[in-house]
Amino acid sequence: MTQQQYRITLLPGDGIGPEIMAVAVDVLKLVGQQLNLHFEFQTALVGGAAIDATGEPLPAATLETCRQSDAVLLAAIGGWKWDSLPSHQRPERGLLGLRSGLGLFANLRPAKILPQLIDASTLKREVVEGVDIMVVRELTGGIYFGQPKGIFATETGEKRGVNTMAYTESEIDRIGRVAFETARKRGGKLCSVDKANVLEVSQLWRDRIIQLASEYQDIELTHLYVDNAAMQLVRAPKQFDTIVTGNLFGDILSDAAAMLTGSIGMLPSASLGANGPGVFEPVHGSAPDIAGQDKANPIAQVLSVAMMLRYALDRPEAADRIERAVLQVLDNGYRTGDIMSNGMTLVGCRAMGDALLQALENPQ
Ligand code: NAI
Ligand code: MG
Repeated sequence: MTQQQYRITLLPGDGIGPEIMAVAVDVLKLVGQQLNLHFEFQTALVGGAAIDATGEPLPAATLETCRQSDAVLLAAIGGWKWDSLPSHQRPERGLLGLRSGLGLFANLRPAKILPQLIDASTLKREVVEGVDIMVVRELTGGIYFGQPKGIFATETGEKRGVNTMAYTESEIDRIGRVAFETARKRGGKLCSVDKANVLEVSQLWRDRIIQLASEYQDIELTHLYVDNAAMQLVRAPKQFDTIVTGNLFGDILSDAAAMLTGSIGMLPSASLGANGPGVFEPVHGSAPDIAGQDKANPIAQVLSVAMMLRYALDRPEAADRIERAVLQVLDNGYRTGDIMSNGMTLVGCRAMGDALLQALENPQ
């Protein structure tokens, strides 16, 4: 068997970032050994760590390193230390720069209920049991970027705030394709969410998605208005497989869907561009309150590695192994503080990592 070689840029960032990244890299290396995949790692600076070393949240060298890799694994950025900086110099700028610099127009956020953690959800067991949703959110268009935007004076001298929700056909098509392809790797169902009863931009959105569907006849396509989608997500979330929607609707719905699971330390995400590398990162932040104390849950970071293997490197068998290992450690009762419950074994970040490696070595 020839060895497959991948270049991965690691951006550990700030706070708990380096702790959870160390675990994720160990997991990736072990899976690589098991499946004869070779990973070449480059570690680069981003966020507060980059500000301290270079004065900038996203040094040009970091962006260049990312561009030359097959995928980027990011932990988290930010922290109290940099909170007093003006907004254009803050660590968070590094994230925005990375997204625009790599042209990451598609954001994938899974919300999957794990049976071992079902009681972490605030919804009833019978409502959330078996939920496995992927929200595909358009990330670089829509109302956050449309022109005109600003606060203008009217003729009467009153102020008027303006943002514009706009999508071109090509912007809709490229996010639509990512969504159909994603649905194909999952349950084969896609729900497109819009507000086509009121918004012209949504009418165009719906038309294009319907057009695209002719190329994906194996996918079952449905449409929902966003207000109804929000209701359905909390009423009967099991009806959803993959959801595709614009930037604003996706921002709100992806947070709502994620919180069906109730545990922030478990949630990964992927941001994908057209040709270049995607960025894979946990949904949570740098958790400065527990940084450096070996308390962080590394599972969101480890599941981000699984997403990287599935969606960027096309190694679903490696992703499956990692996801099975996560279920196995939970079955064996290991819990970090954020997901701890009665009768379980409380472990730190490093020990959770060791348990994951054990589970990979000895699958049950
Ligand atoms: P946060 O997600 O860092 O923390 C919220 C709460 O969840 C905290 O109590 C934290 O201890 C806990 N938590 C988060 N991840 C955890 C994990 N893996 N294991 C165990 N507990 C975990 O959000 P917060 O406090 O609003 O932001 C802290 C910093 O992170 C800020 O500087 C913020 O700007 C930044 N941030 C960065 C993000 C990123 O890098 N993508 C996303 C969100 C926030
Ligand atoms: Mg949000």
